[in-house]
Amino acid sequence: MQAAVVRAYLDEIVTQIDPRIYSGFVEHLGRCIYGGIYDPEHSTAGPGGFRNDVAEAVRELDVPLIRYPGGNFVSSYVWEEGVGPRDDRPVRLELAWRSLEPNLVGTNEFMDWLHVVDSRPMLAVNLGTRGIDAACNLLEYCNHPGGAKWSDLRRSHGYADPHDVPVWCLGNEMDGPWQIGQRSAADYGVLAREAAKAMRLIDPTIELVACGSSNPRMPTFPDWEETVLDLTYDRVDYISLHVYIVDEVGLQDLVVQSVEMDEQIRAVIAACDLVKARRRSKRTMMLSFDEWNVWYHNRQRDKEFMRDRPWEVGPPVGEEDYNAADAIAVGSMLLTLMRHAGRVRMACIAQLVNVLAPIMTENGGRMWKQTIFYPFAQASAYGRGERIYSSEAGPLLSTPRYGEQPAVETIVTRDPESGLVTVFAVNRSVSEGIPLQVELKGDGAYALDMTSRLHDDDPYAGNSADDPHRIVPCTIEDATVENGLLESFLPPLSWNVYRLAPASSRS
Ligand code: AHR
Repeated sequence: MQAAVVRAYLDEIVTQIDPRIYSGFVEHLGRCIYGGIYDPEHSTAGPGGFRNDVAEAVRELDVPLIRYPGGNFVSSYVWEEGVGPRDDRPVRLELAWRSLEPNLVGTNEFMDWLHVVDSRPMLAVNLGTRGIDAACNLLEYCNHPGGAKWSDLRRSHGYADPHDVPVWCLGNEMDGPWQIGQRSAADYGVLAREAAKAMRLIDPTIELVACGSSNPRMPTFPDWEETVLDLTYDRVDYISLHVYIVDEVGLQDLVVQSVEMDEQIRAVIAACDLVKARRRSKRTMMLSFDEWNVWYHNRQRDKEFMRDRPWEVGPPVGEEDYNAADAIAVGSMLLTLMRHAGRVRMACIAQLVNVLAPIMTENGGRMWKQTIFYPFAQASAYGRGERIYSSEAGPLLSTPRYGEQPAVETIVTRDPESGLVTVFAVNRSVSEGIPLQVELKGDGAYALDMTSRLHDDDPYAGNSADDPHRIVPCTIEDATVENGLLESFLPPLSWNVYRLAPASSRS
């Protein structure tokens, strides 16, 4: 079998990787909040009602930001109903996901939970049923020290210090026909621009994200981006991207579908730079990939399941049972984000718990990690710092929808503090194992520090409450580094991590 040959130029840094590309997302959707992160009756729950076992798993993912409270949920959310004494909070019909919202968890509880999981907030404002006024009031409630109506209300709720929310999303998927309050690009662009203007008058330090298209298959993509950016370019810092990989024509296609994500990023960069040039602007618009994952197992079932259900709190929707192949698709998406780290500065895996999630729970019961947990955790742990320039050549795959694509994808990173270099390699072939050779070019010798692989002979196998460790990473036994050459063998459908230490640091 032809080898995948990588040349890693260790003296050439392509870009810094913003750690916020390893961020997460929790929404009031299904059992993400109620029964997921919040379950006061659970044996591990702390005084705030949050499950400690779940919090510990979230900490392991080390997500710098967590987006909240939606998603589609935000477009009819009344944030004021989720703060203050719990007994006074109303139960609401939640329209986006046809469920009951008890408002037991709201803005302050979310901030409390962030302290537990050691993360920071990225809040979305409701530009569906509400608008600039509600967004400004929420911003004052969260970020203003006090001495005015909404910040004093926060203080009266027991939060003397501001929450200092650094990043704000101006609505969610406003192009989607499913979105409550869907708008045309021009209408949304004006609303987002005016909301941004007013919000910055309250807190000029915040970063703002305008809604891009819901996915690259929307008929209005990428014209939506061009129109919205034309109207908001000087007022916002990021344009959002969302994508969910689906299984359309089988596994081989699924695991290379990140090629669409790659094209999506390139198209959005082109739209940003077109508007930049047109405006003669000095600012470069950055990208926030604030929803991405694999989503196909139960999508159709959920539609039928939700149709005639009674309204209830935390219905089990969006619960994907991820398998070994899905973890490879997620791995490939992670490498795509790293490859574009020069422009993609934030990205949120959607979501974290129970809904499209690396972490699953039973209400009041067990917790387990899905297959996709592991590539995410390892990318988050080892894919920070600098992306190193590398070239790759190797065997091609023939795919039904995407034609010929490289079987092996790689990314090389380095932690500038420790000097540790990480080689990520994904073999996307469903049938062929492929030899890997990485030539380490540059000064200094390296030795293997750590290796890890996620692979199973059965691509459809996954973890469950009864069998939580069916698929977990293992050490790569065959890897060697000699005379600046890393050699290994990549099994079909495998996620592989090689950590290399400068030889001097090991003596
Ligand atoms: O993450 C699930 C949903 O997918 C979000 O609520 C929405 O923004 C997207 O369509």
